[in-house]
Amino acid sequence: MSSTECKQLHKDFGLMVTGLSLKDDLSNNEVLQIKEWIDNYSLVVFPSQHLNDQSHLEFTKKLGEPEPNHVSLGRDGVVNYFGTIGNVQPDGSVAGNSHKQTRFLTGNNMWHSDSSFRKVPSFVSIMSVYEVPEHGGDTEYVSARAAYSRLSSEVRELIEPLEVIHDYVFSRSKVADVDPAHAASLPPVHQKLVRKNPANKKKNYYIGSHAKSIAGWAEDAGRQLLDDLLVKATQPECIYTHEWQPGDLVIWDNRCLLHRGTGYDADKYRRLMRQTRVCGCGPTLDE
Ligand SMILES: [Fe+2]
Repeated sequence: MSSTECKQLHKDFGLMVTGLSLKDDLSNNEVLQIKEWIDNYSLVVFPSQHLNDQSHLEFTKKLGEPEPNHVSLGRDGVVNYFGTIGNVQPDGSVAGNSHKQTRFLTGNNMWHSDSSFRKVPSFVSIMSVYEVPEHGGDTEYVSARAAYSRLSSEVRELIEPLEVIHDYVFSRSKVADVDPAHAASLPPVHQKLVRKNPANKKKNYYIGSHAKSIAGWAEDAGRQLLDDLLVKATQPECIYTHEWQPGDLVIWDNRCLLHRGTGYDADKYRRLMRQTRVCGCGPTLDE
């Protein structure tokens, strides 16, 4: 990897890596290096990769077990490892702002961690980019690890033992109806509020739009704590905004990052990105 160049994207997190082709066979050392970047930088951007679904899935498997898409699994009982982000349909046509799918995807414009509503939530998400709008359609990221490091010792002590109830229907119902079979497949789950990276032992808090309440707390008090932690993590200076380019291959660590879409005009522009995810090691309560 002598020709690999790295540039940090934000003072808290994020790394851009050039000089490594993810289409090629990667050595064990290269895969280990990528996992180390994920542990230490949380967001790893590889520009100009231009992967297709096949090479994207092959790369995904190098990082762990691909996670079945929860929509096709819950609604249709079908295992499919890809999600499509954007408004371009399989036949190449475009779904505008009023289309059900476009409205459904606006749920991603709230700060969240992918799959935090699953008993075993995602380790990473991996996005491969095909078409981007001329304006908008960026993704903002913040580090809940950096946010944790800024907490007072009193707050750290308070949140250490807490469990949070994450509920997909709670969050997604704010923007669109959830198919009944899909909803039934995703009952609310308990997640640890404070998580620790198994490799470098750095802690973060684990929240986002799917976080509904604190287990054992009155609803108002739990909501207030969750909202307060979110505000602390998402101050403007904490945000890295990624302006997507066709060919980007971007990996983010869902264990400790929050992200949200900035929105775009789906009547005016085309957007097509394909996403896979890698399963986490197990329930957060067992960490
Ligand atoms: Fe997401």
